[in-house]
Amino acid sequence: MADSKKSATLNIDGTEYELPMFTPTAGPDVIDIRKLYAQTGAFTYDPGFTSTASCDSTITFIDGDKGELLHRGYPIDQLASKSHFLEVCYLLLYGELPTGAQLEDFENRVTNHTMLHEQMQNFFRGFRRDAHPMAVMVGVVGAMSAFYHDSTDISDPWQREVASIRLIAKMPTIAAWAYKYHVGQPFIYPRNDLDYASNFLRMCFAVPAEEYVVNPILSRAMDRIFTLHADHEQNASTSTVRLASSSGANPFACIAAGIACLWGPAHGGANQACLEMLKEIGTPDRIPEFIARAKDKNDPYRLMGFGHRVYKNFDPRAKVMKQSADEVLDLLGVENNPVLQVAKELEAAALADPYFSDKKLFPNVDFYSGIILEAMGFPTSMFTPIFAVARTVGWISQWKEQISDPQLKIGRPRQLYLGNTLRDYTDIENR
Ligand code: SDX
Repeated sequence: MADSKKSATLNIDGTEYELPMFTPTAGPDVIDIRKLYAQTGAFTYDPGFTSTASCDSTITFIDGDKGELLHRGYPIDQLASKSHFLEVCYLLLYGELPTGAQLEDFENRVTNHTMLHEQMQNFFRGFRRDAHPMAVMVGVVGAMSAFYHDSTDISDPWQREVASIRLIAKMPTIAAWAYKYHVGQPFIYPRNDLDYASNFLRMCFAVPAEEYVVNPILSRAMDRIFTLHADHEQNASTSTVRLASSSGANPFACIAAGIACLWGPAHGGANQACLEMLKEIGTPDRIPEFIARAKDKNDPYRLMGFGHRVYKNFDPRAKVMKQSADEVLDLLGVENNPVLQVAKELEAAALADPYFSDKKLFPNVDFYSGIILEAMGFPTSMFTPIFAVARTVGWISQWKEQISDPQLKIGRPRQLYLGNTLRDYTDIENR
């Protein structure tokens, strides 16, 4: 915890209260209100946590005004261009970029945990074929706590480490098998001679009837998409994982809770909703109609892939994703992709409109990702599962940081109660 070198003074009904303040290494100062209720008898009020720091952390920093995203201090654009996903996983988990030997050992540990307990296939087969893959992932990841009992005791550092590696390693297998079950094709087992992204692509798109050759353009694009989605400070799904883990729940249950939260269209589900929106717009001449709806106070409609709680500038991940979309579609020989055309013209039209510029609404990570994923052959229903595969390392890193915090307390917010005060029961004949 940072040292408190200054304080804030709160005056309630003429009584002054001194609240310590902490200055971070980067970002806003925080006011420590942990003793506020005991001292004043008052709660703070912050639905949606727009002004609340829920924890201290050393993993990821976002400067929303600059549009800056750092993982352990390294900017996302450098990691996306110079690093690769498993190296970023190591950085998020252990705090430093690995040496060659450390990276080789880490990659071997992940590679050797990619298979699922064979009996877990039964869970997939219990779902309807048309089940959304996110429903399958919530179920199967939660069920892992029933199969990997030797890595559920969070008080044991060795078990925490094994659970972390198992989750990072098995998520691509679970997501790929959810897809295979959805399309009625046989499960494809992971291969130890393939890198993380290539293994995932092969498990999704290979069929037993023929050899599958990984396209290096696609595996590089897949790896970069994983890197761009790896972690993002205290977003809704990460906060869900932290809250679940504060009760001592096992890591598989906590990650299943994070997957469930990510599914929402306001969060990780936006990549699927955004591509569906771009397809509904269809042609650039319909853009004004959709922008008008997004601006209409009486219409709850929003532009998917636009806006962000923290970024009040371009989401740096969206910038990299936009460059990648151009590259991948060009390398795949996809010319004049109509959806990409609509996306670029929609972005330009929205950013030129005072409604969006005044509210500092910019494209976020979900605006271009779906265009690349569709060009790679994924159905829209697989977009959020891919986000979940990537974000598992972020959830796990934040989970490890929290449960090793000696100050850990169960998360238990209070409320502003506006309901009925005490009243007596009325018998039905008197109602
Ligand atoms: C992710 O938190 C993270 O870090 C998340 C994430 C991660 O990596 O974990 O970055 C991933 O979830 C990205 C966001 C994906 N969601 C979408 O693209 C869905 C569309 N975006 C919005 O629903 C919205 O922008 C949110 C949910 C992302 C942020 O909402 P906030 O911070 O609660 O902002 P708000 O709803 O209070 O909006 C502020 C104003 C409102 O207008 P007023 O009431 O002030 O007049 O901006 C408007 C909103 O109506 N607004 C939009 C808009 N987003 C906000 N208007 C039109 N279209 C939009 N997309």
